[in-house]
Amino acid sequence: MAKTLILYHGIYGHTRKIAETIESELHRLGGPADLVPITEWNVDEAGRYQAIVIGAAIRNGKHNRVVLEFIRKHRALLESKHNAFFSVNLVARKAEKNTAETNPYVKAFLNRSPWQPQLVGVIAGNLDYQRYRFFDRHVIRFIMTLTGGPTDLNTKVEFTDWDRVRSFAAEIAALSTAGGA
Ligand SMILES: Cc1cc2nc3c(=O)[nH]c(=O)nc-3n(C[C@H](O)[C@H](O)[C@H](O)COP(=O)(O)O)c2cc1C
Repeated sequence: MAKTLILYHGIYGHTRKIAETIESELHRLGGPADLVPITEWNVDEAGRYQAIVIGAAIRNGKHNRVVLEFIRKHRALLESKHNAFFSVNLVARKAEKNTAETNPYVKAFLNRSPWQPQLVGVIAGNLDYQRYRFFDRHVIRFIMTLTGGPTDLNTKVEFTDWDRVRSFAAEIAALSTAGGA
């Protein structure tokens, strides 16, 4: 099976945890994968991979701008491989907002991105108030108030559906077994 590169961007570690789950599921399915923060990856390594996955968390309504900058710069490279994107956010905890067609951040991302990924995953994130810096804690609490989520500052809940993450990994694996690059 193809070798996959997973590039990710998050702040508090949950996007990395999702990327690790995708990595280990790809391994289980027989395909090697590497995991690298998007800001640390060296493009000279690109030749080693047949598939590239980018994963990014939403913070204050947006994916970090380094993600879009990376995509703009490396669009041709992404399109030359099997490719996929996943977004991690808390709005995706709602069943009616957890697809590429219904999640507002992913819709906005796909409108702005010159790269249209072959596969798009929308994954519900983590809420752990005590882990956040003071300002972040209050920003996310405000967002939770607006969207009808938990506002108790002791809340610690992983909304991530790990079976869905593993299914997404299987879809990534299927891209390369289907042929092509
Ligand atoms: C400061 C902050 C702002 C956030 N803003 C949003 C937001 O606007 N919309 C949303 O759906 N989720 C928002 N989230 C939720 C994150 O996307 C979610 O917690 C994710 O799991 C964070 O991933 P990370 O641990 O890799 O940073 C926010 C989280 C934090 C800490």
